Amino acid sequence: MIKEFEAGTFTLNNGVEMPKLGFGTYAAQESPDFTAAMDHAVETGFRLFDTASMYGNQIDLGNYFANNSGLDRDNYWLTSKVGQQEQGYEETLAAFKNTTKELQTDYLDLYLVHWPKEKHMFQTWKALEHLYKEGYVRAIGVSNFEANHLDRLMLEATVMPAVDQVETHPYFNNHVTRDYMQSLGIQHQAWSPLGQAADLKDPLIITLAEKYGKTPAQIVLKWHNQNGTAVIPKSTNNKRITENATIGDFTLNPHDMALVNLLNRGERIMGAPDENYVNDLW
Ligand code: A2P
Repeated sequence: MIKEFEAGTFTLNNGVEMPKLGFGTYAAQESPDFTAAMDHAVETGFRLFDTASMYGNQIDLGNYFANNSGLDRDNYWLTSKVGQQEQGYEETLAAFKNTTKELQTDYLDLYLVHWPKEKHMFQTWKALEHLYKEGYVRAIGVSNFEANHLDRLMLEATVMPAVDQVETHPYFNNHVTRDYMQSLGIQHQAWSPLGQAADLKDPLIITLAEKYGKTPAQIVLKWHNQNGTAVIPKSTNNKRITENATIGDFTLNPHDMALVNLLNRGERIMGAPDENYVNDLW
């Protein structure tokens, strides 16, 4: 099973234990340090690896785990996502087959719908439910689903999403969506938890880093952790990977948590999911 490391796990609504801290791989394969970074992530204790068919790196990850990681398959967690152009019932089943082939695995730990699409929502979800019920995935969930998308999904879903992975960082804390999913028992997972490093330059985050003797990234990751949010920070730099893996030995006090919550500016990195939901923009 997944090796316990200092950040621990969240128990999903189907009883599966998901690591709180994961390794984001978006664009990681473009770095000349990809293999070294993966080695370092494994060494520092990362066991959850997050990819997507649209990232174009499933083959790289599959080769890495098959040839370099030294880990048995049941000692690491793989998340992938069905792409925007792969939605629909048969299309999703075909996409899943391709994903598992590229990742050189029989199963995924978590399979997500990458973006909500009005036209395909029910058929795509039905395919995920089929994969779940047949035991090809340990948990199914969604990504970039906000309250209106979750409400619509629930009209026909027979399995509740276990996870909703949405953009979340101090400048866009997405608290309305987070509170809604948490009220439904759906685990919140943050993509771009560091705000692509921009939020790390905020004067408050720097002040808190000095106060706690931590780095700005560790303050932000701890803030997520104390909010009950799972995270998948991305880095291909060994020093920063180590930083991101070591957030266990301190606690932000409630006042400092509130101060970070107040940094919210509603500033997204990506477009709003609703822009794409009906119009098929990406
Ligand atoms: P690098 O790969 O050079 O470390 P996010 O996960 O929010 O999308 O942020 C990813 C960005 O944040 C990348 O540019 C990454 O650069 C940078 N980053 C990741 N970890 C840290 C860290 N601990 N300190 C500073 N920057 C970081």
